[in-house]
Amino acid sequence: MPSPVLHVIGARPNFIKAAPVVAALGERGVAQRVVHTGQHYDERMSDIFFRELGLPEPDVDLGVGSGSHGRQTGALLAALEEEFTASSPRSVIVYGDVNSTLAAALAAAKLGVPVAHVEAGLRSFDMTMPEEINRRLTDQLADLCLVTSPEAVGHLANEGIAVDRVHLVGNPMIDTLLANLDRFDPAAVQAAHGLPSRYVAATLHRPANVDDPGTAARLVARLHEIADLVDVVIPVHPRSRGTLTAAGLDRHPNVHAIEPLGYVEFVGLVRGAVAAVTDSGGVQEETTMLGVPCLTLRPNTERPITLTHGTNRLVTPDEVVPAVRKVLEQRHPVPRETPPLWDGKAGPRIADVIIGSLGE
Ligand code: UD1
Ligand code: UDP
Repeated sequence: MPSPVLHVIGARPNFIKAAPVVAALGERGVAQRVVHTGQHYDERMSDIFFRELGLPEPDVDLGVGSGSHGRQTGALLAALEEEFTASSPRSVIVYGDVNSTLAAALAAAKLGVPVAHVEAGLRSFDMTMPEEINRRLTDQLADLCLVTSPEAVGHLANEGIAVDRVHLVGNPMIDTLLANLDRFDPAAVQAAHGLPSRYVAATLHRPANVDDPGTAARLVARLHEIADLVDVVIPVHPRSRGTLTAAGLDRHPNVHAIEPLGYVEFVGLVRGAVAAVTDSGGVQEETTMLGVPCLTLRPNTERPITLTHGTNRLVTPDEVVPAVRKVLEQRHPVPRETPPLWDGKAGPRIADVIIGSLGE
């Protein structure tokens, strides 16, 4: 039995990005091992995605769970080192920018195991974001930087990363979106949750927006102003539950604060929305493909291609209500060219690059 290519996944967006890569390597007959770190563990933050996306059951769940950055990253590092030592992978594939990503890259690099980073090179240039720290360090450690968006190639070059490590492969999160398009049914999700047919879909979970009770309360006040114009449906991320609820999120009759949704229901919700109001990375990309106007409550984005080729716009809390009003008045949003290589074939391209790197 050859030693496996090992995927490390742990948080909600990881599962969605990994599904097409695992499938493509499987089709090419590569021995694989899927390691769940347990960073996310609620049924609706984890298991539901494995069922919906046909991901294989993880071979192991390290059960690391939640904690401060230092504690969580330290626990991930220790558990992953043990796992890699025991399973001797040929290569470790990591996804995105979460703490599980960085810990896996560091544990593997120290053991001399080659690292492939899917979604390399994105930069917000905002080092107050934990994700930016994770991205930069992971790319330094990665032997293969697998890039979703052309500007990321330049970012990696500027950081001294050799061009032969960098491969523009497209976006596997979009592979998952395109593969499941037929399943996204706004009417079904509206019926299942008793929702109106006209609404804004909202998500909030960035620490800068939701951790401080005062900031969270100011955003809830804006969501209530939006709800004066149109219903707001918000599947509440567990990180945000405390502060948003304490700020009275669901005290407005037109706000529908619901549990996190599975992927199929969530994208169905977004597809049927008049607009998305969000601070999610993935939602900026998905709305670009679905043609749903996206208002991102952040001062920056590591995904500028969603601004130039998509429907995304960065807004401050003061700008978001007028921006929603404008979207509601606008009749025909301008269609744009979709980003290069967001064509549903990133998974196979990634598999080919990884297999090429194994020297077989
Ligand atoms: C993490 C990622 C973030 C990503 C997000 C996707 C880091 C640093 N952050 O943020 O980049 O956008 O995942 O959703 O890795 N919790 C639960 N149940 C769960 C998971 C979390 O209740 O299944 C709660 C816990 O109170 C936990 C908090 O959410 O402390 C935050 O979880 P954590 O994984 O540390 O960070 P996220 O905010 O989810
Ligand atoms: N998502 C989901 N259910 C939800 C909210 C989001 O399935 O209730 C999906 C969404 O479609 C996208 C991914 O989760 O594919 C984005 O994850 P998240 O916003 O948690 O993280 P980020 O992309 O900001 O890192």
